[in-house]
Amino acid sequence: MESNSAAIKAAREILHNNDMGGYTVPTHDLYPFQWNWDAAITALGWMTFDQTRAWQEIEFLLKGQWKNGMVPHIVFHKEVDSYFPGPDVWGVDLPLRTTSISQPPVLASVVKILFEGATDKDLAREKLSEILPKLIAYHLWWYKDRDPESTGLVVSYHPWETGMDNSPAWDDALSKVPPVDWSYIRRDTNHVDSAQRPHQDEYDRYLYLLDFFKKMNFDSRKIFDNSPYKINDIGIISILHKATKDLISLCESSGLELEQLPLLKEKISATEQAISQLWDADSSSFLSKDLIADQLCPAITTGTLMALYGELASPAQAEKIKVLLQDWLNACEFGLASTHPNSDKFEAQRYWRGPVWLHINWLIALGTEQYEMTEITEQIKQTSYDLIEKNGYFEYFNCKTGEGCGGDKFSWTAATAIYWFL
Ligand code: GLC
Repeated sequence: MESNSAAIKAAREILHNNDMGGYTVPTHDLYPFQWNWDAAITALGWMTFDQTRAWQEIEFLLKGQWKNGMVPHIVFHKEVDSYFPGPDVWGVDLPLRTTSISQPPVLASVVKILFEGATDKDLAREKLSEILPKLIAYHLWWYKDRDPESTGLVVSYHPWETGMDNSPAWDDALSKVPPVDWSYIRRDTNHVDSAQRPHQDEYDRYLYLLDFFKKMNFDSRKIFDNSPYKINDIGIISILHKATKDLISLCESSGLELEQLPLLKEKISATEQAISQLWDADSSSFLSKDLIADQLCPAITTGTLMALYGELASPAQAEKIKVLLQDWLNACEFGLASTHPNSDKFEAQRYWRGPVWLHINWLIALGTEQYEMTEITEQIKQTSYDLIEKNGYFEYFNCKTGEGCGGDKFSWTAATAIYWFL
């Protein structure tokens, strides 16, 4: 890189420019609100040079938390019309408007990093005591509302909830959702080349699901019983699992004997026992599961690798995943392609069907490190560094050419780079 200090300066500038005064937009125009897992990852970037601001990012996100504990996928802090579907389409009638689904719950894991890395310990302790009860409520919401039958595997009701919107893993399940019966104008393709975005056909179904949640009055049990789309996403399950372990450890190290801790511990072992249902020996990979069709979703994506991040793979499974991962990394100039390049669904520049996402690389590298895959961990880090050095801070990158795709000056890409390797 030209010099790390120039790269750090550029990354910090992105966070400053995307700062709306307490929350950071992922990028202006394309995503003008606060997103759930973006906020968590972005806080890691803020933490490296402004700890107060890092805590504030989390506090702003939690302002959108629902009474039932859910932390929404978008908090619409201010009205902006460059985005579709906005708050009226979601139809959530709250003073601070939000969407009605969540996103991969990496939040508690980030809070643990912020707390342990804090140099201002008084501030960190004060913030933690306010935030912990909210995190506990969030995790209990996942385990109760999203797994009402206590199977150990939470469900997700929308591709947007998985954070990997048009991943080929959802293709079959989504194709069975009816298209919406009203017309609309997308805004995303005003900002980004449509060849890098999901297809219209997928959008029609994304919107049908929004209407369905409204029709169910956002009632968790009714949605569980009637949803035409129900997925055990291995990505969410693994990220939740890791975050719950981090949450328990945060409570214990703060000397908090909370009454909810035994229940959270039970949930940890329930997931560990259930996870083998998502292992597919033929592909040597964990897979998500379509609960409506009662079958595994065949696509091998970076979501499936989150099992390493959650430490849900047995040593024998991890050995098999290692072989797959090596081949996957070597198949493209820039790793790690979000869909395995051997897949017939792979597209090098279409969003979650092939491009590289920096924060995902970071999560996977944490996973491979836990399993002592030292060379692979280094390879993921090096390819991530090369990508940024060559192309800057885009939303995602073409895995064959490295070309930046989607939104430019993107918060979580800048934040991940500063925190991880700059
Ligand atoms: C897209 C991504 C999602 C992200 C959001 C904001 O919808 O798929 O993961 O949170 O943009 O960056």
